[in-house]
Amino acid sequence: MDLATPILAAALPLATTMMVCPTTHNDWDWQQTFAGYYTCAFNEFGVRGILDNVVAILESNNTDFRFSYAEVGFLREYLTEYPAKAPAFNNMEQFSLLGGGITSPDNQVTHSEVFIRNYLTGREYLDSVNLTHTIFPVAWLPDDFGHSPQLPVLIEALGMKAIGLSRVPGSPQPTPCNATQTTAANICGNGTTFRWSGRDNSSVLTHFMPDTYAGITGFEPMDAHAGMTEFLSDYGDCVWPGGTVFAPQGGDWQFPDGDPVPLGYNWTGVPGPLNSSVTGQLATFAEYYDTLMKPSTVIGNFTLFAENYWTGYFASRPQLKINHYEAAQLLLGAEVLGSILTVYNGTTPDMQASLNNKIAAGWDLLVPSTHHDFVAGTAPDSVYDCGTNCGTCNISNPFPGDVLDSKGQLYMSNQTVALARDAMSAALGQLSATIQWTTQQNIVPVVVFNQLGLDLPNTAMVEMDDPTGGKVAYEVIVDGTASPVQRSWNGQIAVPIPPSPPQPINNSTFIFGNGAVSLTLVQAFGWAIENLTIGNKSYVQLGAPANHIGVWQDDGNLYQFGMEYVDGDCGTGTFALHSSLTASGSATLLENGPVRWRFNATLSDTFGNLYSTQYDLVRGETLVRINTTGAAPHQLGGGSSVLASFPMRTAEGATAFAMEYGTAYFWEDREPQKSWNGLTFRASHDFAQLITTQGGSAVAAVYHNGIPAWTINATTSTLHGVLLRNTPATGRGAFGTDNGTHSQYYTLDVLPQLAETGYPLRTSLYAHTPLRTLPLNLTQPVLKLPQEAQLASITPLDSVLAVGKTKNNKLVLRIQRSNPADEDVNIELPWRFNQPIPPPPNPSIVSALETPIDSAPPVETSRSSTSFLANRVLMTLEVPL
Ligand SMILES: *[C@@H]1O[C@H](CO)[C@@H](O)[C@H](O)[C@H]1NC(C)=O
Ligand SMILES: *[C@@H]1O[C@H](CO)[C@@H](O)[C@H](O)[C@H]1NC(C)=O
Ligand SMILES: *[C@@H]1O[C@H](CO)[C@@H](O)[C@H](O)[C@H]1NC(C)=O
Ligand SMILES: *[C@@H]1O[C@H](CO)[C@@H](O)[C@H](O)[C@H]1NC(C)=O
Ligand SMILES: *[C@@H]1O[C@H](CO)[C@@H](O)[C@H](O)[C@H]1NC(C)=O
Ligand SMILES: *[C@@H]1O[C@H](CO)[C@@H](O)[C@H](O)[C@H]1NC(C)=O
Ligand SMILES: *[C@@H]1O[C@H](CO)[C@@H](O)[C@H](O)[C@H]1NC(C)=O
Ligand SMILES: *[C@@H]1O[C@H](CO)[C@@H](O)[C@H](O)[C@H]1NC(C)=O
Ligand SMILES: *[C@@H]1O[C@H](CO)[C@@H](O)[C@H](O)[C@H]1NC(C)=O
Ligand SMILES: *[C@@H]1O[C@H](CO)[C@@H](O)[C@H](O)[C@H]1NC(C)=O
Repeated sequence: MDLATPILAAALPLATTMMVCPTTHNDWDWQQTFAGYYTCAFNEFGVRGILDNVVAILESNNTDFRFSYAEVGFLREYLTEYPAKAPAFNNMEQFSLLGGGITSPDNQVTHSEVFIRNYLTGREYLDSVNLTHTIFPVAWLPDDFGHSPQLPVLIEALGMKAIGLSRVPGSPQPTPCNATQTTAANICGNGTTFRWSGRDNSSVLTHFMPDTYAGITGFEPMDAHAGMTEFLSDYGDCVWPGGTVFAPQGGDWQFPDGDPVPLGYNWTGVPGPLNSSVTGQLATFAEYYDTLMKPSTVIGNFTLFAENYWTGYFASRPQLKINHYEAAQLLLGAEVLGSILTVYNGTTPDMQASLNNKIAAGWDLLVPSTHHDFVAGTAPDSVYDCGTNCGTCNISNPFPGDVLDSKGQLYMSNQTVALARDAMSAALGQLSATIQWTTQQNIVPVVVFNQLGLDLPNTAMVEMDDPTGGKVAYEVIVDGTASPVQRSWNGQIAVPIPPSPPQPINNSTFIFGNGAVSLTLVQAFGWAIENLTIGNKSYVQLGAPANHIGVWQDDGNLYQFGMEYVDGDCGTGTFALHSSLTASGSATLLENGPVRWRFNATLSDTFGNLYSTQYDLVRGETLVRINTTGAAPHQLGGGSSVLASFPMRTAEGATAFAMEYGTAYFWEDREPQKSWNGLTFRASHDFAQLITTQGGSAVAAVYHNGIPAWTINATTSTLHGVLLRNTPATGRGAFGTDNGTHSQYYTLDVLPQLAETGYPLRTSLYAHTPLRTLPLNLTQPVLKLPQEAQLASITPLDSVLAVGKTKNNKLVLRIQRSNPADEDVNIELPWRFNQPIPPPPNPSIVSALETPIDSAPPVETSRSSTSFLANRVLMTLEVPL
């Protein structure tokens, strides 16, 4: 634990001013759908009524009034319905947008890039209605159920000045069982605003709202003075840097004024003396920020540990997380392909517009799913999956049109995947129609697209539909050389020989391998991996098989796992293995090389529910790719989670006492502070791996996409991941069942490397991003692309290119590094050779929101390559075209 210098309370001035920030907290959806909240949240006026109220006050010439607002998705809906009201929001002194995102995004389980696009999409809309100037660049996340320990990396990269947050261990929601949860009290004692640093020296001013985003709302709405006085008596002796106390006033769907709405607020007397020493005023967060920026204000450094406020939501509603990830990767791929077409002149303005519209439609539908009750999986059944019964408000002024989550989150999330697939196939279609080739008899040319900004290992495999429909035997030539191929069990890959029929497995111990790695699967352990050998070295612990799948009793709810305190019940909830899955029914060797080996088995839990688990080995690889499909049982009484467990050691016998895991655009290897007894899950992005000790060496890794909840049991050197969850318990306003069947893909690697090498990130992206293929269009193209074309490549190896998109005559590249040390990165842009002389202006470093940044490192450019000093792990490069 590295603790920064605390500030001394005594060195700071006593509070003299209290700023009250009128706002409202408008969830995109939660207990109601978006349309429900817009039209009739709680009191039949809905968000529409709230914004009507705001407009009325802003137009009333009350110069004391202020209003701050985070949810641009609702503002967009309102201004689409009432376009003439946009100018009412124009005065940035009085009206301030908190960050400008479509919604207030969850920061732990949201796909890193979708988090960024939430703000980009909001800004693009605000530009269109001339309200961008009202944005104050703060990541307003006061309802997020905990905070990624490397959040400053992402927020600084966005060019934002501040973070506003509230839920940390020990903060008022939840109150009980806080004996070990000191984070809130420590922040209060060190300073409610502090500088929070990421591992790469990024640093973001962070304000903690000690009484939640509701602030003084919880007190006397009709008596401002009473609310302010009570807030001061509870939190006035926290350290307030600069001496100004800041309190939001804006709980869930709070109305800014009392008339005519019942849930109002009495502003009388707020500006003016509050008691003998404190004066009150209404303010935006921007005005509060200005008081913090006074040279006399001392702001301390503080290392925030708040990732384990609630953790059950890391695994709730897995299908929303799987779809969210898949849609994001497809859209990123379509962008890269669109960029290749653009920089190599393989496109026309019409083709570009048509592809860009499809990509934009995908992002537009995807970004609201970053909402902290959407991808988090914390909406009740009635909003998660409501089909045609999503509840309507019986009001005179209904929602205009049929939109978004009107059939529930699951349906909307399915639609994001459908739109993203559509964008990818449109991009591939354009590509296949523009590549030049020479007609040869009996040759079917095929194009292969790798969307990842990294080199593939030479074991990479591609799967595609058989262009002859399985009628013709043929061989595959890659770069002039015959390549091994096989027909997959469902007829996909083509091979020159008839496919071998699936081989039923009768042995109770089944050994299979690809020449690089060998697995011993044991029927008695539900076909878990009893032994994994490479050469003659073994990596699994004796008697403790890997990918051991079990049903766990989980007394938690959508937000919390069973071992977390549940509503006043301190540490007595259960989260423990109930029973292991056992082999049941068939086990089959579906494919037996020479490209892929695939084993598939049916498993069962003690209630007789069936699951399947599948192991894939690919030619030349030591990775074990696994797919487990099933539904978490509902017969347990209380809730259940289904976990995969990997008790691992190195070939030399070393075991693990710590873990490393990916966060949004970086990684973490510190232990969280303990908030409860038992396991503490982490929201892991891309990978989770066992390491001997912090800074030691890597023992075994699991790569994944949609399964963020992983943890270590250091006593047994075991990595546990939650595959499925079904926790119908009530509590916290949203109870949910999940009897759905979901497929989880994950990959075991017993030859891992530490996160800072970039190896786990690269390998995870490689293992979970398929190469895309399409036969070339048989008409000779008008626009001609070369047979091989590359958008960009990057060195050193710890770096990947996470984004490559073109817009407004610029190519935007996002650089993600895994090593936090400052280092020169070099980006090859081969197509620049062909640009006219003189070439367009030099590339430059910008924020992730594509705005200029202070002290951007200079970019050096030669004819086709570009380099700069990467002093942060997440950087964005704009290359004029
Ligand atoms: C606000 O002030 C403007 C200009 O002084 C005036 O035209 C308008 O009537 C005032 N509105 C209200 C509601 O008082
Ligand atoms: C946009 O808003 C600004 C600030 O109020 C104003 O100066 C400008 O005239 C507006 N532009 C348009 C096109 O309405
Ligand atoms: C813990 O909660 C109790 C009851 O809500 C409260 O009185 C106490 O101050 C809290 N302690 C800490 C350390 O937050
Ligand atoms: C400041 O925070 C540290 C932990 O980061 C804690 O040990 C210390 O007690 C806090 N100081 C005060 C005055 O609360
Ligand atoms: C509003 O608050 C003021 C000051 O506390 C109080 O005098 C007044 O009665 C309140 N108005 C209403 C309508 O409650
Ligand atoms: C916070 O950390 C920075 C960088 O390490 C340092 O320059 C600064 O002096 C620290 N601030 C305080 C108040 O300790
Ligand atoms: C694209 O077309 C422009 C204008 O015709 C030409 O200058 C440039 O060299 C072409 N670029 C490539 C990569 O072929
Ligand atoms: C989502 O898609 C899956 C597979 O494409 C389908 O099985 C499921 O019924 C869909 N769910 C909804 C709510 O549309
Ligand atoms: C399965 O058992 C048969 C004999 O019963 C044996 O020939 C074969 O090698 C075994 N296969 C594996 C993979 O263990
Ligand atoms: C795994 O296989 C290796 C090599 O065959 C053998 O030495 C080792 O004892 C086996 N380990 C287990 C747990 O079966």
